[in-house]
Amino acid sequence: MKVLITGVVGFIGFSIAQHLLKKKHKVFGIDNFDSYYSISLKKKRLNILNKNLNFTFKKVDIVNKKKLNNFFKKKKFDKIIHLAAQAGVRYSFENPSKYIDSNIFGFLNLIDEAKKNKVKNIIYASSSSVYGDSINFPLKEKEDLNPKSIYAVSKKLNEETAEMYHKISGINFIGLRFFTIYGEWGRPDMFMFKLFKSFFLKKIFYLNNYGNHLRDFTYIGDVINIMEKLINKKINGNHIFNICSNKPQNILDIVNKFRNNNKIDIKMTKIHKADVLKTHGNNNKIKKFLKYKKFSNFNTYFSKTFEWYKKNKIYNIK
Ligand SMILES: NC(=O)c1ccc[n+]([C@@H]2O[C@H](COP(=O)([O-])OP(=O)(O)OC[C@H]3O[C@@H](n4cnc5c(N)ncnc54)[C@H](O)[C@@H]3O)[C@@H](O)[C@H]2O)c1
Repeated sequence: MKVLITGVVGFIGFSIAQHLLKKKHKVFGIDNFDSYYSISLKKKRLNILNKNLNFTFKKVDIVNKKKLNNFFKKKKFDKIIHLAAQAGVRYSFENPSKYIDSNIFGFLNLIDEAKKNKVKNIIYASSSSVYGDSINFPLKEKEDLNPKSIYAVSKKLNEETAEMYHKISGINFIGLRFFTIYGEWGRPDMFMFKLFKSFFLKKIFYLNNYGNHLRDFTYIGDVINIMEKLINKKINGNHIFNICSNKPQNILDIVNKFRNNNKIDIKMTKIHKADVLKTHGNNNKIKKFLKYKKFSNFNTYFSKTFEWYKKNKIYNIK
């Protein structure tokens, strides 16, 4: 199968590309090498992908309609996995327009190209942040959405855009509401890698809201397996799925457990206005749809991620 992955040097895009290449798919990847976090880390990921002859990369900003249009010419993709976006909840208060550009205009440009080039299937990243603060846990996909940041608003609008374009253009969409994905090659701006980095570099770790958050951590291996099943299945319509392990973890508990073996200095900070206190999703819908049985155990994969981080000295990457 010929698959386009946008955001291919990002955490999730890279991890999926690597797996699909192993399974002998032809993977085309685009990314604008955004500097929101370490470009060196993105380069490292690209170097690994470039070793595979079935992989083709082009630096393209999805906001640039002309470049995107040129890139699509004569490619005839079977499926698109759209992960390129400005990620991060807090940064959306510093630079909101980036979210409008990449996440909203970028998505529209991509759909436009899919239409012109008759690509019928788009799988795209939404986010658990669309729920905002809620009380009905575990959250089902049909729960009301109350976004608390421009990031969350952009993802909610992506879902509405997909629904509308499915009706008028017949493109089949699958929106995946990812809940705090972690694992090897993870994002340095997220909690887990910040914690590891503070430990190795002996820097203070800033613990937001005194650690009183619950996050439904979901291992990247589950995302990869689910994506493989999704691209191999013939799917019509417009669908939304929670991608979560359904096992929220308390951040303070994780930090305290980590500190039992690893000395680390902590500074507690107040809650950020955009932070959602708890994420906890119901994953029955995706499990049933794909006959996906079991999500990975948090403690096991937290340790594996730490070992990988240590072995590859990720803390040294600037
Ligand atoms: N990691 C998570 O826990 C999580 C949770 C919820 C949703 N998501 C969503 O999943 C997707 C992938 O997330 P990730 O964690 O891999 O993030 P990431 O930042 O590692 O990857 C996103 C990639 O998109 C690229 N990009 C940004 N703007 C672009 C543009 N205009 N044109 C082309 N490329 C662009 C970036 O350079 C980056 O490499 C994103 O849409 C994100 O919002 C991730």
